[in-house]
Amino acid sequence: MFYNPARAYSIADLRDAARRSLPRGLFEFVDRGSEDEVALRRNRAAFEAIAMRPRILVDVSARSQAHSFFGQASKMPIAVAPTGAAGLLWFDGEIAVARAAAKAGIPFTLSTASIISMERVADEAGGRLWFQLYMLPDRRMAHQLVQRAKSAGYEGLIVTVDTATTPNREYNRRNGFVLPMRMTGKNMRDVALRPGWFFNVLARYLLRSGIPMFENYPDELKVKLTGKPGEQPGLPKSDSLNWNDLRELRKIWDGPLMVKGLMHPDDAALAADCGADAVIVSNHGGRNFDGAMATVEALPAVVDRVGSRIDVMVDSGFRRGTDVAKALALGAKGVFVGRAPLWGVSCAGEAGASRALDILREEIDRALAFIGCTTVASLDRSILQLPPGFGEWAQTHLQAPARTPWAPVAAVTASPFSSSSSPAVVSQASQA
Ligand SMILES: Cc1cc2nc3c(=O)[nH]c(=O)nc-3n(C[C@H](O)[C@H](O)[C@H](O)COP(=O)(O)O)c2cc1C
Repeated sequence: MFYNPARAYSIADLRDAARRSLPRGLFEFVDRGSEDEVALRRNRAAFEAIAMRPRILVDVSARSQAHSFFGQASKMPIAVAPTGAAGLLWFDGEIAVARAAAKAGIPFTLSTASIISMERVADEAGGRLWFQLYMLPDRRMAHQLVQRAKSAGYEGLIVTVDTATTPNREYNRRNGFVLPMRMTGKNMRDVALRPGWFFNVLARYLLRSGIPMFENYPDELKVKLTGKPGEQPGLPKSDSLNWNDLRELRKIWDGPLMVKGLMHPDDAALAADCGADAVIVSNHGGRNFDGAMATVEALPAVVDRVGSRIDVMVDSGFRRGTDVAKALALGAKGVFVGRAPLWGVSCAGEAGASRALDILREEIDRALAFIGCTTVASLDRSILQLPPGFGEWAQTHLQAPARTPWAPVAAVTASPFSSSSSPAVVSQASQA
């Protein structure tokens, strides 16, 4: 018996439905944060602390969310964030979410750690596709992944920079949801309580191709999620990732290059110096570093520092259309959503992911009407009532000179993708 996503009136409803559909370990893997889940709560608390000051008697009868990313039209100011292992939530889940994004007219980002290969997603999903890279210790292998994405027709490359080490997610260990996966009494009981997931997802993979694996990994690293004794199917460590890697990626990727997972304006300036076309202010949805600040609080300082040079996008904790309106009013060029479409796909596949995006579209539309704006581009800080202290941190840091960890700038190239008229600066010097 499948869930009818039309019965979901909010993202929270889809989350509840996902909880009823997935084995507990899998639901918590998607839903929860890290350590004490302070960053997770902080993301939400920051949105709730911002109020809006509507304008009235504005004719808002012709409202539009028409938008563009890197000069190409998008039907909403939203993109789907990369989320590894979406394919474990629904059979061929990454294709289902990508199709939902294509129908909604927005970009979909495929994670390095997806269960379905980037080539299959490109062949079967359609729409506008971006590829997210987790840097591999062997740079040659990582660059081969990037070349594969280019050959498969991916338009944008997102490099994730906020995962210098393995996040501490204690519940995964308690739930026995660790890699390599093992059958324990606890997780077998969890699966037995969700026979729908077992038959619709796991059994179908087993019948088609056996235990799922991270299909994008280079052959040398590809291991089934259950692994073999001594094998580690998780992501290889990428704690040596540095600015030089970003400059190297810029050399081999000629499409839009986005840097995901930064919070500090100095880092945003360095990313722009290395030739990035956009930065994504993100704390990984509160899943990695529990000490991180809320992204919507980090956003204005980043916008003020680099917003005239490159695009600034944001994610983490977006659950309502008003959250999106607040971020756009603070200067974000776009918003990524992670869990919202995942909860949708978990309970109803493509239709569920579509429902998540429809709910957000309806809510953004409602927010525009109430605020008195007809376009998303007309949202600005004047409609926001920010809590006391909001942005003080930004004010002190805006004056700080950019920290430059390498030798002086050697070349200047205009980025064809940046919405700004200023050129992006690329350093050819080596890492200090
Ligand atoms: C289950 C799950 C898996 C994720 N996997 C990745 C990943 O493979 N690569 C990545 O850059 N971010 C990953 N993220 C983080 C998202 O891209 C995004 O930053 C985050 O989900 C945004 O917060 P939200 O879920 O509150 O919208 C993942 C998030 C979730 C919930």
